[in-house]
Amino acid sequence: MKFHIRTYGCQMNERDSEAIGALLIKHGNTPTPREWEADLVIVNTCSVRKKAEDKALGKLGLLVAGKGDHPERIVGAMGCMVQRLRNSIFERVPGLDFAVGTHSLSNLPNVVDLVTRKNTPVIDAGDGKEECPDVLSIHEQCAVTAFVNILLGCDRRCSYCVVPSVRGQEWSRPAEHILEEIREMVSSGVREVTLLGQSVMSYGRRNEVWPNAHASPRGFKEPLARLLEAVNTIQGIERIRFTSGHPSGCTPELVQAMAELPAVCGHLHLPLQSGSDRILKMMRRGYTVDDYRRAAARLRKTIPGIALTTDVIVGFPSESAEDFDMTRKIMAEISFDNSFIFKYSSRPNTAAAEWNDTVSPEEKLIRNKNLLAEQNKRSTAINRELIGTVVEVLATGCSKRNPSRWSGRTRTNKIVVFEPPEGIRPGTTLKVDIERAGAQTLYGIAIPPAPQGAPAKQGTEHD
Ligand code: 5AD
Ligand code: SF4
Repeated sequence: MKFHIRTYGCQMNERDSEAIGALLIKHGNTPTPREWEADLVIVNTCSVRKKAEDKALGKLGLLVAGKGDHPERIVGAMGCMVQRLRNSIFERVPGLDFAVGTHSLSNLPNVVDLVTRKNTPVIDAGDGKEECPDVLSIHEQCAVTAFVNILLGCDRRCSYCVVPSVRGQEWSRPAEHILEEIREMVSSGVREVTLLGQSVMSYGRRNEVWPNAHASPRGFKEPLARLLEAVNTIQGIERIRFTSGHPSGCTPELVQAMAELPAVCGHLHLPLQSGSDRILKMMRRGYTVDDYRRAAARLRKTIPGIALTTDVIVGFPSESAEDFDMTRKIMAEISFDNSFIFKYSSRPNTAAAEWNDTVSPEEKLIRNKNLLAEQNKRSTAINRELIGTVVEVLATGCSKRNPSRWSGRTRTNKIVVFEPPEGIRPGTTLKVDIERAGAQTLYGIAIPPAPQGAPAKQGTEHD
């Protein structure tokens, strides 16, 4: 069959879609980027905000309605929304062929097979309470960058968040399995890995991940620092990232590991969520604004030039104009390189759903736009400081907007669009002279490698 996967949501969902794609290929199917010609269309869904669910439900509705033109086509849903709505998904999307939850991914080919043979809707969305969650370690070939799951589920009980109920309890993969997976990918061309976990710094907290006999060469004690150290030794790996962080996890040891291990990139996504201690407490985030400030200061002091990005929710229940102002102030103080601003969305079965959604949709929108505008100005100013400097870019391919140019990212995770030099290919690491900068993108010209022995061009390396 020709299959097409449409993905909503976070990097974990992107990773799941990639794993499912690889699994379907292994079972003899062919991917297509053109939805219209696919015999099997899968929507990988997100539940984090109501809007994300509405989008996925809308898309599934359209796909099912389009079956008139494609009577043989199979339409399926997978991911977080399937998990959350497992008892009502077929009522919400009449005509849907199958639904696979977050704990049953490896069974997807069987489910498709069953649908084809029996011509009846199938659901597999168990609650994943078995001992060792099933982890798909399979990847598609030929990528330069890759996501690797290291921690599944989440044990934090942030009052607004649907994730613990859809992704289950925390479970950390054994370090050896992760290392094996990365070694294999690096040997087939991957240059950068992003280690994924909803609260990635909790890696190895709930269950053992290192054998007793393993000793960290640097004497690290914490599981994530030890994992970064071990991944850093894999021959051929150039860049290591991990996401998402939490201020409580920014320990001296982890920050030291980030500073000392050459492959670990100088960027951290560290969700702030709010700048008001009262709201942070209601959110059950487990830190105060001052704790956050200290974590950011430690990172900045130990890792010069580190880029910090964040998530913020506006319009949380009872958020006053003063609370919001505190968020504006701390965002200006920390001066994030980039931030993702979300309007609070009440999710069923979360603690916050019990409280009145007091901030009107209009006010949420105003607060959202306000933070976005301030962030845009800040990001532009920060990025403009890079004009005239030379940055290291890992090229990933031609630019989406202008195929005659290429794009890649700096170690600080900034997108760079540049005039490609001769002989470039995905995975090439090159120096780019930055000439122009916007809030989201840097633009520049690739510098041809200096002939052996010649001095490199002078300039400040910001990343
Ligand atoms: N409403 C709005 N934003 C939310 N997020 C998580 N849950 C909600 C919610 N109920 C945001 C948080 C998180 C990001 C992935 O999504 O900022 O860090
Ligand atoms: Fe990712 Fe959370 Fe959305 Fe699931 S609900 S896809 S874990 S953001």
